[in-house]
Amino acid sequence: MTYKSMPKVELHTHIEGCAPPAFIRGLAQEKSIDISGIFNKDGTYAYRDFAHFLEVYEAACTTLQGPQDFYRLTKAILEESASHGVVYQETFISPDFCGGGDVGAWREYLHAIEAAAAEAERDHNITLKCVATCVRHFGAEKAKAAAKCAAETKGDFVTGFGMGGAETFGKPADFAYAYDMAREAGLELTCHAGEWGGPEMIADTLRDLKVTRIGHGVDAIKDRELVARIIDMDVVLEVCPGSNVFLNATGDWPDHPIKSLRDAGVKVTVSTDDPPFFGTTMTHEFDMLAETFGWDETDFKSLNQTALDAAFCDDATRAKIQKRLDT
Ligand code: HPA
Ligand code: ZN
Repeated sequence: MTYKSMPKVELHTHIEGCAPPAFIRGLAQEKSIDISGIFNKDGTYAYRDFAHFLEVYEAACTTLQGPQDFYRLTKAILEESASHGVVYQETFISPDFCGGGDVGAWREYLHAIEAAAAEAERDHNITLKCVATCVRHFGAEKAKAAAKCAAETKGDFVTGFGMGGAETFGKPADFAYAYDMAREAGLELTCHAGEWGGPEMIADTLRDLKVTRIGHGVDAIKDRELVARIIDMDVVLEVCPGSNVFLNATGDWPDHPIKSLRDAGVKVTVSTDDPPFFGTTMTHEFDMLAETFGWDETDFKSLNQTALDAAFCDDATRAKIQKRLDT
């Protein structure tokens, strides 16, 4: 039994992290960049732990040097996602990797990515929205520049603002200025927290950045009072079980907190994060959840519905995707 063909809504992916290793190797070859050290002999990405993952990730990003590279990347990603039944996807795109925080350059990258997304929508019936994202370990000043890029381009495609990177770098409050700017521009907000930083990081993030969604958030399970608050505040978790298992952020599949969180009444969703880095796909996530917890079509329909309800998109898009889920 596989859930490959079931329609899926995915809220948490990183655009560069969706790049297949062969795609990055191809770009490296075209540009004569030597990044052979970031690959295993079998061609997969090679890293030891989360800190090293971020280094390898940034090395891979050095091959993505202009809007055209992101155009090609977006086309490749969406074709792959659609083949796993994804009908709606949100992706984190960082102004830091797309123009270095310059608003004019960011606009050019977005233009190319949006063009690729429009072609993928036509060819593969998949919708993409962008959550512009700052990189936590690049610091608060860079985060402000990223938020400015996001605020200036808020619209149909750029609908949210987020933060990834090294979760234990600094405090959420350091990034409050950037988040305030994004909120004032009307962007919806999410932030990685509680993958590595414990329940306190989730609590501080909710208090200081006033997000409606949390990236990962699995450490919430360690604090019952926080679980109650998350439910009370109607916060949605973008859970990425395969990523957590691969990086040892949680226990193995049977011990993954997604089931306990869901059973407790937390709104959870399922995403791949950086699929080729973690050897996963949306099909694999659904199939593993089915195998591990006995979740079935009814469970996955409800997970999809939670994700669509929490999607950072306009009403017309939500209605269109709803139809796809309902048929
Ligand atoms: N977690 C945090 N930051 C990231 C990730 C991730 O999985 N991928 C790219 N930046
Ligand atoms: Zn992530």
